Order: sequence, then structure tokens, then C-alpha cells
Amino acid sequence: MTEKTVTLNTPAGNFDYPVLDGSVGPEVIDIRKLYGQTGMFTYDPGFTSTGSCESKITYIDGEKGILLHRGYPIEQLAEKSSFMEVAYLLIHGELPTQQELDSWVRTITRHTMVHEQLATFYRGFRRDAHPMAIMCGVVGALSSFYHDSTDITDPDQRMIASHRLIAKMPTLVAMAYKYSLGQPFMFPQNSLTYTGNFLRMTFGVPAEPYEVNPIIERAMRRIFILHADHEQNASTSTVRLAGSSGANPFACVAAGIACLWGPAHGGANEAALNMLREIGTTKRIPEYIARAKDKNDPFRLMGFGHRVYKNFDPRAKVMKATADEVLKELNISDPVLDVAKELEHIALNDEYFIEKKLYPNVDFYSGVILNAIGFPTDMFTALFALARTVGWVAQWNEMISDPEQKIGRPRQLYVGAPQRDYVPVEKRTSAA
Ligand code: CMC
Repeated sequence: MTEKTVTLNTPAGNFDYPVLDGSVGPEVIDIRKLYGQTGMFTYDPGFTSTGSCESKITYIDGEKGILLHRGYPIEQLAEKSSFMEVAYLLIHGELPTQQELDSWVRTITRHTMVHEQLATFYRGFRRDAHPMAIMCGVVGALSSFYHDSTDITDPDQRMIASHRLIAKMPTLVAMAYKYSLGQPFMFPQNSLTYTGNFLRMTFGVPAEPYEVNPIIERAMRRIFILHADHEQNASTSTVRLAGSSGANPFACVAAGIACLWGPAHGGANEAALNMLREIGTTKRIPEYIARAKDKNDPFRLMGFGHRVYKNFDPRAKVMKATADEVLKELNISDPVLDVAKELEHIALNDEYFIEKKLYPNVDFYSGVILNAIGFPTDMFTALFALARTVGWVAQWNEMISDPEQKIGRPRQLYVGAPQRDYVPVEKRTSAA
């Protein structure tokens, strides 16, 4: 079979570039030789047309609203899997046998405690610190505690670091919450599931037994699965880029947490609920829709739109069903949900949103569920970080084991001053 190519006609001549086929998805033009051959770069702010790596972990078809982890549809995983099973799948590539799953759960469970001295880090933060500020700090600090798992050239150390990150995130997130309340930190309890243990560390107190509510546990399991990975999004690309320099995995995940915090990414769940609260009543929705459409107003409907999904976000469908289920089973009627439902209805029928293919994303509904469960708004993004750690770790491992991996180093279109001579201060005139 002849190799597919595209020809680029450049001032330096005509060059053929190979066209690569993935297992599914669009073809990709391999431009690695472009600069060497033509002396030109490509310009692609936001990387809307740029693939940065080869990956076998997650596939998204944004037009059809498909999300697959290692080939398995997200809807099936959310319905049938445990979070630990999904974590194993993302990291090891296949669903585990019962024996593999038992051993994986045992290993993760045995790493849930954190070094006692790490608790003293929390005391350095103000009580009203944002949990994501705390998470950026304490996850980066893990590298100072676990020196035996920071040599990234050793596959065993990489795996131990991966276990530690996945196992300790719930403990660290729960500690951030407890610290904000002034309540004692809760030690993990290894007889519980990953999700049940997290709920107990968050909502339990040492003074009395805590019973995990199975409805809430199921909802949290789904939320974690729906957030576990999403291919080369901003925070995952940040983890990969940080890791491409050889930085240790704890530092890389701390970088991912920092990126996730922004309201255009993981911070959208917090921003969406704050927006729903600000709107307050269905009567005010038209005012906010008008603001979202106004070019001169920076306001956006939080929880709407996605870089990749231009039809619907498959995670949002499962999340919406979960929101309905949780609110019904817990017998909660929340005015925020009424606003959310009406806003969704109006936006989905509005010409502006239809034309721009703006649909509710996963963050639109997750906030409603987390609010109903009792999490304060500023914890939402930390919960996203907890779940996404699995994806970050899987992607980081894949990158480190990839022989084609190089340090990430984008180029730029320079539009600043050309070379000029230094001017002594007494001869300078103000540019302002
Ligand atoms: N409300 C109103 N208008 C919007 C919105 C919105 N939420 N999102 C996009 N638009 C408009 C935007 O103004 C632009 O209009 P025009 O073509 O007239 O300039 C057009 O739609 C395209 O927007 P864009 O910013 O070029 O699209 P993008 O792919 O760069 O951005 C996004 C994607 C998710 C950052 C954006 O839709 C957004 O800011 N949404 C709100 C924040 C949000 O919910 N983020 C969570 C994403 S899902 C979870 C995750 O992956 O972290």
C-alpha cells in the first residue's frame, strides 16, 4: 500500500507530509519535518488543529458525542463499573480479572494514609483558603515525602508513585474540607470502597460512627468515573508538558491541578452553581441569556459549550440522569435545579446557542448533585481533581514510556520589536 501524503507548496519548495491513520478518528498530518525542510512553523493558538501525542487511552468524537476509555463507552462504564475498575482500565489498558481487581484494590487501599507530617502543611493555610490552593501545595509537597518513587526512569517507582497519587487524593481532599471546618482529620478506613471511604473522611467525625448512604455513594462513583479522563484537555496537556522535562509525577500532577482550577476548565462546576444561585429565579433567566449573547459583555453561561463536543457531552447525559435520581431519592427539592432545568430548556431552543453548538457540559449538572450531597461550592473543583488524577497518572505513564517522547517546546509567531541598541536612561523618551 502506498503511503498517504499531503503536499505543501512552500517558498522553499514542495514537500510531501505523511498522513497518519489512528484506529478511529480523523487523519493526522505528520508535520514533524516541516521546520527542518521549509524553515516555517505552524500557528495554532489553543491547539485547535494540533495533535501533541499518540495515545491509546481515551477517544472522543465531538460531533457524535462519543467518549470511549480504552474502547469502552463512558455510559457503560458509568453504569456497570466501579471507580477502581475504571482506574485499572485507564492505567493498565484492559478491564481487570477478579483477581487483578482484588489485588489492585488492595494495593490502592494500602496507600490511602498520608505521612503525619503532611498534616502540618495544612495548618499553614488560612482556614478560608480555597481547597484548590491547598491541593496545589500539598500534592506538590508529596514529592518531598516519597523519595523512593520519584525516579521516573524506573518503571517500578513510576507505578508506586501512581498508586500513591490515586490512593492519597481522597485523603488530601477530605483533609482540605475538614481543615476549613476546624474539624479533626479523619483517617482512612480500608474496609470501605474508594468512594465510601472518601465520603466518611469528608462527612464523618471521630466522635460517632458514619454510615455511608448507598445513594450518595453511587452518585459519587458516577461523578468520579465521568471525570476520570478526557484525553488531551488543558490540565492533562499540562501534566504531560511538565512531565516531558523529566519532572517527578507529584510535581506534574500539582501542575495539572493548577490548570484545572480555571473557570474555563474544571473550575466551571463551581462557577456554574454560583451562576445558578446568582440567577436565583427562573424569571431572571432571559436577562442572563441576553448577557451571554452580548458581545460587549464578558459573561458566559457557565457549564455550556465545549471545545470538542459540538453535539452533546455524553457525560452530561449521565450526569443529568444522576442529578434527577439523587434529588428524587434524597427527596430534595432545590430551587437551583428549577433554574438549571429552565435555563437548559431556554438555551437549547435559542438560535444563538443552536448556531454555536453550545450544549450543557458535564459541569452544568455535577454542581447540582454535589450541592445536594452537601459539598460547599468551593470543594467542587477539588473533587474533579481527585477523579482526574487517575487520567493524569495514566497519561503521564503513557508519555514516559513512549520512545517518541521529547520535551514539549512549542514555537511562536514573534511580533515584538526587532533587534535594537540599548539606550542610556537619560536619552530615553517615554513610550506611554
Ligand atoms: N456562553 C455564551 N457564549 C459562549 C459560551 C458560553 N458558555 N461558550 C462559547 N460561547 C461562544 C463564544 O463567545 C464564541 O462566540 P463567537 O464565535 O461569536 O466569538 C463561540 O461560542 C465559540 O467559543 P470559543 O470560546 O471560541 O470556544 P472554545 O472551544 O475556545 O471554548 C469553552 C470552549 C468550554 C472554554 C467555552 O465554551 C466556555 O468558556 N464555556 C463556559 C465554561 C465551561 O463550562 N467550561 C467547562 C468545559 S467542560 C469541563 C472541562 O473539560 O473542564
